[in-house]
Amino acid sequence: MSNNVFIMNHPLIQHKISMLRDQNTGTNEFRKLIEEIATLMGYEALRDLPLEDVEITTPIETCMTPMIAGKKLAIVPILRAGLGMVNGILSLVPTAKIGHIGLYRDEETHEPHEYYCKLPDPIDQRLIVALDPMLATGGSAVSAVDFIKKHGGKNIKFMCIIAAPEGLKRLQDAHPDIQIYVGHLDRQLNENAYICPGLGDAGDRIFGTK
Ligand code: PRP
Ligand code: URA
Repeated sequence: MSNNVFIMNHPLIQHKISMLRDQNTGTNEFRKLIEEIATLMGYEALRDLPLEDVEITTPIETCMTPMIAGKKLAIVPILRAGLGMVNGILSLVPTAKIGHIGLYRDEETHEPHEYYCKLPDPIDQRLIVALDPMLATGGSAVSAVDFIKKHGGKNIKFMCIIAAPEGLKRLQDAHPDIQIYVGHLDRQLNENAYICPGLGDAGDRIFGTK
């Protein structure tokens, strides 16, 4: 596995992903779990945020103490399902700007189609964290990162809760410079390009649609 891929092994993340998979987990609980997992993964994915010492006066004395430095964060959910992860990251970095990339997969070809994209402008100086719970064929993730780069994004992380090996490879091959955070690497895709064992259709389960 390349140095740019981080597969989560924290027991809390694994436990919550197992609860997500359960077909009996309803919409309300599913949403909460997606958000909680995003927070736990965000804690890991943001561990290399740069710090700078600033002067703070405590009730005892003045000292130099570290705070997050310069580079600002942009969170970019891939619609729809990525929206479910946004609040989880905002709970860690409430001042982050938010972009949106709207893509849907064609049911027959499984290729992504773009329908809405708006990013914070300018974006070149920001750390960008793209969010999508599912990395299946990788088509959506590759298109989203293509779009971010076309608009000047340079420092990009991609965070997904479940990945198929096929999609992870496609994303790594297309964008070897980005860091990829995966909650769990599943076995394979099925003939409909769904992840096995997966959790079904993430967007439908978050929004209660079918
Ligand atoms: C799902 C998921 C990803 C994409 C993954 O979205 O949220 O965006 O499929 O599949 P891929 O890796 O094969 O591209 P979908 O297109 O179903 O849209 P939705 O989030 O609006 O339900
Ligand atoms: N999109 C989903 O929501 N689930 C899958 O298993 C594959 C793509």
